[in-house]
Amino acid sequence: MLFDNTTIGGINTICRIVRSATFEGRADRNGYPTESLIQMYETLVDGGVGIIITGMMAISPMEPHQHCQVCIDTDDCIAPLQALTKRVHDKGGKIIAQIVIMGSAILVPEGENRIIVSPSGIPEMNAGSKESHALTIKEIEKLIEDAAKAAIRVKKAGFDGVQFHGAHGYLASKFLTPYYNTRTDDYGGTLENRARFLLFSLRAIRQAVGPDFPIWVKINSSDFMKESGMTFEESKQVILWISRIGINAVEISGGNTSSLPRQGPIRAIRRTKEPMYFSKYAADISTLLKNKIDIGVVGGFRSATDMEQYLKQSPVAFISMCRPLLRQPDLPKIWKTGNTEPSLCISCSRCFGSENVNCIFNKQE
Ligand SMILES: Cc1cc2nc3c(=O)[nH]c(=O)nc-3n(C[C@H](O)[C@H](O)[C@H](O)COP(=O)(O)O)c2cc1C
Ligand code: SF4
Repeated sequence: MLFDNTTIGGINTICRIVRSATFEGRADRNGYPTESLIQMYETLVDGGVGIIITGMMAISPMEPHQHCQVCIDTDDCIAPLQALTKRVHDKGGKIIAQIVIMGSAILVPEGENRIIVSPSGIPEMNAGSKESHALTIKEIEKLIEDAAKAAIRVKKAGFDGVQFHGAHGYLASKFLTPYYNTRTDDYGGTLENRARFLLFSLRAIRQAVGPDFPIWVKINSSDFMKESGMTFEESKQVILWISRIGINAVEISGGNTSSLPRQGPIRAIRRTKEPMYFSKYAADISTLLKNKIDIGVVGGFRSATDMEQYLKQSPVAFISMCRPLLRQPDLPKIWKTGNTEPSLCISCSRCFGSENVNCIFNKQE
């Protein structure tokens, strides 16, 4: 199962292991990929991963981008990214660009004075008092247009697909969260209204790239907040709507920086003793939407044996990993030889950073 030669979300792949989006902090001052980023992807391809999803790329000139973040917000970005996709394809790899509108979840670089945007101007619960501007309808429409334009650039740059980031408290996810979305217009209130930004963005992207280009989306199974978060029942409904608008794959994650303790997207699983922490949500959703859309899952997958077992029990199409592939970029290759030793990653999350992201055990200072 794990090493099936198959098609996932419109992309042919040598296995069901996907490198989930991982902010690498390896862009130059222009937001162009560095040689070090390209080599990181080449290493992952050599290591046997099926499909790579890039770290989140900034798409809109309206908002600041993060330090060392790859940008795809102007046509100038296309040529350097073409060089990147060529190198990945030359090695036989597949690569999807993750695009994001960060909103108030952004880590604002020093000296940056562009506006921070959000659905309703509500300050981040757990990240100090970051001021944000409640978007006007015109600005929302502009951001949706920016997402569509970025997707066209993704296609021109030669990526195998595009993933829209609808999870983890970034803007599209914030719209879904009642605590952060108190709007009273068409973009707030009912679930249908709160999902409008995400669905309109996805529709605009589909229209922009044409019917055949793979579009994926990452979404929360639940916000896992104490109150006024998006619930699992709501998430299921949103994914059902997504399945009806020609999207190829949904990657199930969960949580944000306002989640309850130990309920965020990137968990310390050695401490919580809860590996594969979104597996039951993805299993439920994939059963509900069997043959309608490919469902994948990310979060705490560390053992090939458990992953094989999980794939046998539920119609999930792919499993993504982030931290294990920072620790061991060749983990899929190791597993494919029959060595089922679990990942050496200890889930400490000390790889997280703004520049040259890497596992602490692999840092070359
Ligand atoms: C260093 C680091 C960077 C990340 N960057 C992104 C990102 O750019 N986009 C995204 O959707 N998720 C990002 N994530 C979350 C991962 O994709 C994944 O959802 C999470 O780490 C859980 O999977 P894991 O247990 O396999 O690490 C990041 C996680 C880490 C540790
Ligand atoms: S720093 Fe910790 S969590 Fe990150 S890859 Fe290394 S062992 Fe895993």
